[in-house]
Amino acid sequence: MTTQNRIKASRRAFISTSMLAVGATMLPHLSAGATTGTRARKSRFTLWQLPLHQTATQGNSYVFRTDNGQIVVMDGGMPSEAEYLRGFLAMLGNSVEAWFISHPHIDHIGALNEFLKSPGEIRIKTVYHSPLSEEFYNKVEPDNRNITDEFYKNLKKTGIQVVDITAPGLTVDIDRVTFKILAVKNEEFTNNAYNNSSMVVKVWDAARSAVFLGDAGVEEGKKIMNSSLFDEYNCDFLQMAHHGQNGVNRDFYRAVKFNACLWPTPLWLWNNDPGTGYNTGKWNTVETRKWMDEIGIKKHFVAAEGLCVI
Ligand SMILES: [Fe+2]
Repeated sequence: MTTQNRIKASRRAFISTSMLAVGATMLPHLSAGATTGTRARKSRFTLWQLPLHQTATQGNSYVFRTDNGQIVVMDGGMPSEAEYLRGFLAMLGNSVEAWFISHPHIDHIGALNEFLKSPGEIRIKTVYHSPLSEEFYNKVEPDNRNITDEFYKNLKKTGIQVVDITAPGLTVDIDRVTFKILAVKNEEFTNNAYNNSSMVVKVWDAARSAVFLGDAGVEEGKKIMNSSLFDEYNCDFLQMAHHGQNGVNRDFYRAVKFNACLWPTPLWLWNNDPGTGYNTGKWNTVETRKWMDEIGIKKHFVAAEGLCVI
């Protein structure tokens, strides 16, 4: 397919899925208004949680647009979601000011890796990530070694500015929207190693805030709770760790003050249903949902439902 045809196909896919999202039926357990958020009037950014339309996968993909038109991407999802994202970014002008990567699992870097190999019209100014050391990724998760290696090599080849982050604290201001790195890789954790090395990012302006936990696991969550930055995790919108299950623990969620959940969660995972019925699978999503009920969180944005505008 030529580049022009690919862009046209991407736009068609974007428009078609967007239209589906607008007409989406509300999932059980979701509060009214879940697909469209309550953007505060004075907020300087729009945030989209991209839909998960590949039923067997669980991507993680968020796009920001500031009121002056600057675009920022968080992760980007699976390789199979790249063409949807390409269409989405084309509609926004194809120029990405900043791209934040939580960790190099394929459901987080896959789409970006496709763009690095075949950029098309997309221009990316800066990628921010907390790269795993070669020694670490050669050792901890052999199945993920090759894609990690390929992704890091592709990043170096492109000429895109890459910021390697080794300590929390960096802030990036884009049109008076602030992105702050609250946590970085933790190579002391060799259990659930990649997930526990999720780079955590907080985003805010004068009106509202969101925290993106990536796939942070129990160990990273405990470390965060003991860190001097923990107060900064309080926010309006909290991205549920590891797609809503088997991430940070109940104590973490109870200790953070937040008002709404962002769930990068497909339907089968939302319902813990591998095809044998509700809550019959091996995943803990229903339990996490119960934790949220206990805390009193009423607003949920679930990627299974379609494109969420926040
Ligand atoms: Fe993930």
